[in-house]
Order: sequence, then C-alpha cells, then structure tokens
Amino acid sequence: MINVTKTYLPSKEKYKKYVDEIYESAQVTNYGPLVQRLEKRLEAYLGVKNVVLVANGTVALEIAYRTLGLKGFVITTPFSFVATTSSLVTNQLLPIFADIDEKTLNIDPNKIEEQITTNTTAIVATHVFGNACDVRAIEAIAKEHNLRVVYDGAHAFDVKYMNESILKHGDISTLSFHATKLFHTVEGGALIINDDNLVQKARYLINFGIENAESIPHLGTNAKMNEFEAAMGLCVLDDIEEIKQKRKIILQNYTKELKGLVEFQKQDKNATQNYGYFPVIFKSEEELLRVQKALNEADINPRRYFYPSLDTLSYIEPKQYMPISRDISKRILCLPIYAELGIAECKEIASIVKSALL
Ligand SMILES: Cc1ncc(COP(=O)(O)O)c(C=O)c1O
Repeated sequence: MINVTKTYLPSKEKYKKYVDEIYESAQVTNYGPLVQRLEKRLEAYLGVKNVVLVANGTVALEIAYRTLGLKGFVITTPFSFVATTSSLVTNQLLPIFADIDEKTLNIDPNKIEEQITTNTTAIVATHVFGNACDVRAIEAIAKEHNLRVVYDGAHAFDVKYMNESILKHGDISTLSFHATKLFHTVEGGALIINDDNLVQKARYLINFGIENAESIPHLGTNAKMNEFEAAMGLCVLDDIEEIKQKRKIILQNYTKELKGLVEFQKQDKNATQNYGYFPVIFKSEEELLRVQKALNEADINPRRYFYPSLDTLSYIEPKQYMPISRDISKRILCLPIYAELGIAECKEIASIVKSALL
C-alpha cells in the first residue's frame, strides 16, 4: 500500500542514545534538556529567533492567538487544514473568510481588505503546501489597519522568502511537527515569535499560565513537548537535507510526467520550495474522482487535501460563501510524496493518473 505520506523514521541506534540520555537524567518532560537543545538547533537551522516548542501545531496556533491577546473578528483563509479555523473558534474568535487566489491557493490580499471592519483584530494566513503567502501585501494591509498577523506555517518548514526564513514574517508563525510532516517529532509543533517581549508570556501559557510557585497570572494550558518527542526531532533534523533531496527528485519526476495534463500550484518566485506536498488540480471533481478510484484500485491512497472548504463547516456563524476555495477544494488531490518513495513507484502513480485522464 502507498499512502499520501509515510513517516520518516531515523536510525534506531541514534534514537536509543537519546533515550539513554533521558533515562540518565530521568527528566522526561517540563522543558527538559533535549527540548532546549532542539529549540536552539532549530533556531540555527531555520535562521530564526525565539522558537518555542509545543505539543502540536493546533495548540501552537491557539497559543499564538492567546499570546497576542486576540479578540473579535479574524480574517482567515477558507483553504487550509481544519485546525486553522477550529483553533480560532475554540478561542472565542470569529473567523471571517477571505477567498483564495486560484493559482497560488493562498489567501488573496485584495479580498482581505474587503473584509476588514472595526471589529477585525488580526489576519491568520496559511502558507498552503509550503507556498509562501504574499507576505509583503499582507504586512502592508496589517500596518494600515493596525492588525496582528499570524502565519500558519505548518507546511512551511525551511521555506525561504528573499533568502530569509518565511517564518520571520508576521507577529508569530507556527509550525506542525506531526509525523506526516517533512520534519517531525511524532507529535509536536512550534511558535516562532518575532517580538522578544512576548516569548516569556508564551512560555507561561504552555505551562498552565504558571509564572512561579506563588503566581499564576495567565489563563494557560498544558502544551508542552516532551523529551522523547524532542529526541525524535534531533534525529530527524540530522537527516533533513537528505529527506528534502529525495522528495525533490520525486516532485521533479511527477512534474515531468504530468505536465499539461493537470494544473500545478503557482509558486511564489521569491520563495524556495520544501517539497512537502504534491498537489494536482483537475478540470472537474468528476475527473478527480476517476483518478482517485483508479489509484485506490492499485492500493495507492492520495489525499483530498484540503476538502471540504472551511467556509462549509457547520459550526461557522455567520454563514459565508467562498466560491474559489469551494471550487478548488473539489478538484485538488495530493499525490504520495515521501523520502522512501521510489522513482519506479512514482512513475507508476503518474501512469495510472494519465490513463484515468484519457
Ligand atoms: C495547515 C495546517 N495547520 C495546522 C495543522 C495542525 O497541526 P497538528 O496536526 O500538529 O496539530 C495542520 C496539520 O496537519 C496543518 O496542515
């Protein structure tokens, strides 16, 4: 069976050495030495400051909103993983969608402006499939209207924009280190906080809001990463360049095989790619379903990422209608891509897609 992705597992021997260290120190969680080491290594690798590791990418978004003290209406994308929207709702924030650009699949800055009211406090945008948002346009809008910006960078690990980490943009960027991601810690995530003055507050918030033994000034939660997860991250980070290189070859192969038959996401020219996903856009949902069926019959499981469009979620009030996101979400499929996927398998997948399109 070939799934859309396969978790990268590093050398067991190397992982065991970290496990020995954990047994030695007997500190398994609560901002232990391996979490601290991984934060430093990620800051150096990504070229960012203030990495705060957390339990997953969803809670990273929630802590970002709470660190910034967001209230009221937040303009966000309808084309993302459900956590981008649900994290707002669970934090008493009202998601107001701005439709996406049909080529880049990212939130369209022109549509953001149309949705701003006096109740708007922030913009939450996703770098969809690691494709950099139009950060300059979003920053200009945020500055003009005095809005905060959070980037959901769950897919944007190690993406560079004008030679610098894309994660440096916005007040806070978040990452997901779920096992399905390019870089992972089994479960995990991070905040990259631009304002040094907010880092300590985020650290209190992920640890129940506790400041010290006598004082609990913030409404916090438990969002800590543990030492076993950090150990996995330290191992995977050693191999990340090789992982990316292998994925790059698969992406190039698919692109060569499928060019002209399907549409690809338009990449921002100022940004690099990280080869995390391989989305293809079909002419119709009927075409997509035909391809999906043919692949499933060969025991290959692509993923309808992102489907359905988030403006269709039953718990969103007021009801909203985002035509471009709804249309794209019906026609987009992510093909399998992971370091271990062989070129022969990649060619087989492409050939099944081609035959189903004839
Ligand atoms: C765009 C996006 N945001 C947020 C998340 C949530 O991350 P996690 O699964 O680590 O909670 C995901 C996870 O797949 C995602 O794809």
